[in-house]
Amino acid sequence: MGESAEWRVGLGHDTHRLEEGRRLVIGGVEIDHHLGAVAHSDGDVLLHALTDAILGALGWGDIGEWFPDTAAEHEGADSAELLSKVLNRAFAAGWHINNVDGIVFAQKPKLSPYKEQIANRVAELLQVSAERVNVKAKTGEKVGPVGREEALCAEVVIMLVKKPE
Ligand code: CDP
Ligand code: ZN
Repeated sequence: MGESAEWRVGLGHDTHRLEEGRRLVIGGVEIDHHLGAVAHSDGDVLLHALTDAILGALGWGDIGEWFPDTAAEHEGADSAELLSKVLNRAFAAGWHINNVDGIVFAQKPKLSPYKEQIANRVAELLQVSAERVNVKAKTGEKVGPVGREEALCAEVVIMLVKKPE
């Protein structure tokens, strides 16, 4: 009897406050909008949720433990770099990405024009084909912090697999 593959599911969530005149970067894609994320880093909610999802799947804690936002070296850090540090550790431990599903919660701007580009960029960062990455968007129905355009949120689930040797 051959050994079977090992599977792990992980969940990530992130929130950033929105302010006038800041950069809005979602899934590594620069979005043209008058509001942007308040953050030490580039405030990429989707990549932060994705990084946490990988850490969660592997039982490796959370992004704040790996990259404390008090550390000066992480000021303005590119979220793609933080993701790649975690991802490379996962690869080194023999894990592969099976698939990713995510939701970005934003009242505005309309993200449908960017969804494909975001999914493609996330797939590129994860080194998987684009059909393994799905990105969805939801408004806040004009209620709550998302609906009032005070904040942006993201949720991600990821499935990791380790094939038998
Ligand atoms: O229709 P429902 O109430 O389920 O969702 P919604 O939050 O009103 O969003 C409707 C659709 O708009 C979503 O399914 C997304 O495809 C799109 N959307 C978007 O493109 N950009 C956003 N920031 C939010 C939603
Ligand atoms: Zn974040």
